[in-house]
Parts: sequence; structure tokens; C-alpha cells
Amino acid sequence: MVEGLQNRYGIEVKGLSKIFGPNAANLAHLLENGVTKAELNERHGHVLGLKDINISMPAGGIQVIMGLSGSGKSTLIRHINRLVEPTCGQILVGDADVVKMSERELREFRRHKTAMVFQKFALLPHRTVLENTVYGLEIQGVLRATQIKSAMHWLGRVGLTGFEQSYPNQLSGGMQQRVGLARALTNDAPILLMDEAFSALDPLIRVDMQTILLDLQKEIRKTIVFITHDLDEALRLGDRIAILRDGEIIQQGTGQQIVLEPADDYIMSFVRHVNRGRVVQVETIMTPLNPHDAPSGMATAEAGTLLEDAARRMLSSGVDRLAILDAQGQATGALTLQNVMSAMVASDSATLHVHG
Ligand SMILES: Nc1ncnc2c1ncn2[C@@H]1O[C@H](COP(=O)(O)OP(=O)(O)OP(=O)(O)O)[C@@H](O)[C@H]1O
Ligand SMILES: [Mg+2]
Repeated sequence: MVEGLQNRYGIEVKGLSKIFGPNAANLAHLLENGVTKAELNERHGHVLGLKDINISMPAGGIQVIMGLSGSGKSTLIRHINRLVEPTCGQILVGDADVVKMSERELREFRRHKTAMVFQKFALLPHRTVLENTVYGLEIQGVLRATQIKSAMHWLGRVGLTGFEQSYPNQLSGGMQQRVGLARALTNDAPILLMDEAFSALDPLIRVDMQTILLDLQKEIRKTIVFITHDLDEALRLGDRIAILRDGEIIQQGTGQQIVLEPADDYIMSFVRHVNRGRVVQVETIMTPLNPHDAPSGMATAEAGTLLEDAARRMLSSGVDRLAILDAQGQATGALTLQNVMSAMVASDSATLHVHG
């Protein structure tokens, strides 16, 4: 838990490529000439899993990886703890290169630095909730009393107090996934790898799990790599989002950047139906305020407030102008209810007018 507070484990993926097939090493040179997935498949009978991936995942942040089925999401996350061997590239975690680790170093790294949460929960059916939760610490050889104390703590934090002695098949899917999350947190690793962890859950339960994860993250500050097909989930969870297609990254940035400036038609088709009020922040559309213009008769909101919350604030205080305050409490800009509404309903053919 201490590690979470001062997480030093950012993940730098550099020039990572993966060709699947028996002759992959001999085909690696084709990557430099920009071979596509289709060419590699048709001419050489090999599968291009990933091509020249570069991502810098900040320590203590949530990096979302998005893309359609087969785009390479699982291949990418599985490289981080080297469940897949790269054809070329580097994966730097803290100050170590995972690709260069010996067997022993890799085993230590997997046990102590990473924890995984899976889509299919992967709980052991003959073990109770508590026994499932201590599993990682048991493998690490941690004292039994410490195992139990830590497991009880995290089971409590995910809302499962009272279910410690239940068996997985006595729990709903959402509760089983909370056990999966508690088990991963009990490992006390700085990196959490989540491959479609919430995708099998009903929509309402899924949103609950997102809320639990976001609440916990304020405190645990893990470096989380979260894979999803779902744009709403990506926007809600991701500090940063990378979008893959056919093994290549076609855009990465904050959710707001991706929604406001989709790199191509493919991404445009993803973001077209997004509720911008829940993604765009007030400072993106505010008009800068002259420091001498005292904001009188205005409601205020901090930078980072989402448009929907800004609208709510104006409506509830019965005013139609809002001053935006920076971290020092200085008013740096203003916007009207009209500005907020036009930004929220801007159609994809109309570009949003962005200040600054
Ligand atoms: N072991 C393997 N051998 C050969 N090809 C593979 C292997 N693993 C993955 N692939 C191929 O690599 C590509 C990326 O697969 P991957 O499983 O990473 O996709 P994904 O984005 O996770 O898809 P999904 O959303 O369906 O989980 C696909 O074309 C897949 O067929
Ligand atoms: Mg996958």
C-alpha cells in the first residue's frame, strides 16, 4: 500500500512489434519497410500482432487501450509482463527493461510488481472468497496473518465484508469480479493489468465497478492498464486512451482530445455519439477573462469541471454565466449557458469552437 502512494512504476513501451508465426524473426526486417497486416498475412502467412507501438503510461495513472476485436489489445497488455515475447522493441517499467529480464527476474517482477484482473474472473471454485483473495500472497510466501489481514482489508474496500467464507458459485458475476479486484489489490503490486475486466458484467453493475475502481484509485494510485471495447468506459476511466487498429496505434491522448479531434474517420465513427457534456472540460471552451474584470453575478467552477456539471451549476444557482477558477482561485475565464449548450450539441459536421 505504501508503494501505491509513491508509485514509481510508469510503463514506457518503445518500438514494440510482434509477428506471430514460426518464421517471425526472419520477417522482422519487413517491419522497417512498413509492411501491413494484410501483406504479411497474404505474402508470408504470418500474423502482424503489433506494429511499432510507442506509449508512455504515467506512473499512478489509468491508461486505457481501446480497439475492435483482433486489433491487438490483449497482445499488447500481455507483453507488459512478457506473457508474449516481442519480435522487437522495449518495455521499460521503472528503470528495468522487461524484455531483458532473466527467468528469475521475470518471475519476481510478475509476482511483486504486477497483478491481473481477468474478464472471466478466474476464481478457484473450490476455494472460499477469502482463500481466493490471499492466493497471490500465499505464492509470495507472506506470513499467514499478514495474508488474512490484507485480504480482509481489500474485501471490505470492494464491499464484500460478510462474504469471506462464501464460494465463487454462490456469488453473482459482479460480486465475483469484486473478488477478482480484491485479489489483485491484495497482491500489493504497483501495476494492475485489466483485460476487459468489466466487459462480461451487466451495464449497471459495470458502471458500479467503474465507480469502485475510480474511488479506490484516488487512494491506491496504481499504474493501471485497462482494456475495453467500450468508449464510454474508456472515457470515464482513462487518464489517457490509446486506440489500436490492425496492430497499430492510430490515436492516443486524453479522452477530451480524442473526442474533440478524432484523427480519422474510424475514430470519428467511435466518438460520434459521445455525450460531450461528460468529456469536455470548461476551460476548453471558456473565453479568457481579463484579470481586471471582476466576475460579479457569476457562479464559479474549478478548471477541469465537465460541461454537464457546469450547466447544472448555473441552472441551480439561477445565473447564466460561470467564472472558471484556476488552482489559486483566480478567475481565468468565463462562459455562458449558451456556450455550454452549443458545445454539447455540436454535431460532428460542425467543429467545436475551441479557445486557447
Ligand atoms: N498466439 C497467437 N498466434 C497467432 N496469432 C495470434 C496469437 N495471439 C493473437 N494472435 C492474432 O493477433 C491479433 C491480435 O489479437 P488480440 O488477441 O491481441 O486482439 P484483441 O484486440 O485482444 O481482440 P479481442 O477484443 O477479441 O480480445 C489477431 O489477429 C489474432 O488473431
Ligand atoms: Mg483481447
